[in-house]
Amino acid sequence: MASSMYEENRIGKIIGGSYSEGLAIKVEDYSVVESTRIGAILVSQTEKRKYYCMLTDMVIEGMNKQALSELPRGNSSLLLNRITRGTSIYTVFKAQPVLSYDLEEKKNQPIRNIPPHASSVRRATYDDISDVFGSFEKNPKRYFPVGNVLDMDENSTVCIDMERFIERSSGIYGRTGTGKSFIARLLMAGIILCDKASLLIFDAHSDHGPDSVDEENRHVKGLKSLFGSKVQIMAIENFSSMAGVLPIEIDVRDVEIEDILSIAEELNLNETAQQVMIALKNKLETEGKHWLEEILVNGEDLAERFKDSESVVNRSSLLALIRKLSVLKELPYLRYDRRPGTNSIDIILNYLQKGISVDITFGKSDKLLNYLFVTNVLSRRIYQRYMEMYERYISNRQKYSPPRPLVIAIEEAHRFLSPDVAKQTIFGTIAREMRKAKVSLMCIDQRPSQIDSEIASQIGTRVILSLSDEADIASALAGMKNSKQLRSIIESLDSKQQALLVGHAVPMPIAIKTRGYDNSFYDFVSIYAPKHEVDEKYEKTIEVSKKWLDEMNY
Ligand SMILES: Nc1ncnc2c1ncn2[C@@H]1O[C@H](COP(=O)(O)OP(=O)(O)O)[C@@H](O)[C@H]1O
Ligand SMILES: [Mg+2]
Repeated sequence: MASSMYEENRIGKIIGGSYSEGLAIKVEDYSVVESTRIGAILVSQTEKRKYYCMLTDMVIEGMNKQALSELPRGNSSLLLNRITRGTSIYTVFKAQPVLSYDLEEKKNQPIRNIPPHASSVRRATYDDISDVFGSFEKNPKRYFPVGNVLDMDENSTVCIDMERFIERSSGIYGRTGTGKSFIARLLMAGIILCDKASLLIFDAHSDHGPDSVDEENRHVKGLKSLFGSKVQIMAIENFSSMAGVLPIEIDVRDVEIEDILSIAEELNLNETAQQVMIALKNKLETEGKHWLEEILVNGEDLAERFKDSESVVNRSSLLALIRKLSVLKELPYLRYDRRPGTNSIDIILNYLQKGISVDITFGKSDKLLNYLFVTNVLSRRIYQRYMEMYERYISNRQKYSPPRPLVIAIEEAHRFLSPDVAKQTIFGTIAREMRKAKVSLMCIDQRPSQIDSEIASQIGTRVILSLSDEADIASALAGMKNSKQLRSIIESLDSKQQALLVGHAVPMPIAIKTRGYDNSFYDFVSIYAPKHEVDEKYEKTIEVSKKWLDEMNY
């Protein structure tokens, strides 16, 4: 690279500091101070390696303390002022070393030491960034460009390592309106482009699969429009108004106690009602019946039957339970008359295994109950099936192939991961087990502080947009190194489209401006989307789903 590029980016020289507290860099040119921001990436290069540091603080220093407080007289551009500035008075950048890059082996290494005294330090160049963050041009199946370095221009592309991204659960946090859903959709597109995992999206606000409009009423293309047959939309209601959309159907016998417990608040079930439900389930199971089917279909008979038998359940509690659960009777997607195996779970699994991502859209009906219930029931079943596939594969690796990795995306993630419900929902298990069975979560949330703290610290990759609440910031950074320094970077973010990336899928924390999800992105996708590979497989899947629909008499 031209050395003039280095010259242009020159910051200063290392004059002190330590591995644990960070380096002190004496800034050589005063103008650098104003054009640099906290969180910037600084690089010090020796013959063997490049040291990458995160700018965490700026301090004004003087040769002696008195020089600092003796304010120069008159105009600040006076000759004398310019002389003292930079010699007896100067600015020191504090920078935390976080990563090293071995120039011989051309690979990232954990930071183990610091560069020598008086080494020069520069602001990272485009090449410095692509060396450690990877490059889409060199490896489009692995690195996905999500934006550019915050204080650099658009050529300073920052990529996420999608292979690592899908390996562990991820969190996308930020206040409402900061761009969570948009960057989530960019990452979903990245997952589909890299083609290493399928996505199952619980699309609470119909933001991701179908087309929509943004805050300024502009048309936004959904993943279906971008990827065609690589994405299947399923809907819980009004599905017929969109072409090619399949209905969601849940067999009542697929509902488990935990699914109901996770919506206990919405159903207004108190402790007693929950206990009655469990007692009743145990009793009915010994008779070979499914408890919820019995309650919803034969509720009155049940009440009659247990009229006098205080031993199983108290009659008035039973009546209350039946009444409260009867809300579920209104759910159009809950079915009683299907043969086992002919429901959405099989069809979704079939898609996911064929490499087709599924978006379950909840329409604009703001019904939290639907979202929580469907998301819980489907995820639990699908995770169980993944576990079975995975265990089968482990038992005989020659005979069986491993399940195709799956990323489950949930909006309002704290609803599934709060300390109250995390034990009942399957999501706590998925987040904690760190992708056993090859399933990971993408948690999109505006209130990370409401996520169970143990789970929050297990989240592998974090995309943190602007957050103002102290507790939310703490939770977003739970378990991360240098969290104090990262906190000040989060505090310096604009309220839209700026994010701190940190964790498993990036080699070091970095503040970015997120890429626009706009016409230029649509063009990018149309060039790189793996359209042809899927078509043939897709035909087969369509046939299967047609058969399935016929069987259901749609
Ligand atoms: N990457 C992006 N590209 C284009 N527009 C964006 C992007 N990020 C955010 N926006 C704009 O900001 C608005 C809010 O973003 P959104 O993702 O809906 O916020 P959140 O989900 O955090 O509430 C969007 O409607 C869009 O206009
Ligand atoms: Mg949103």
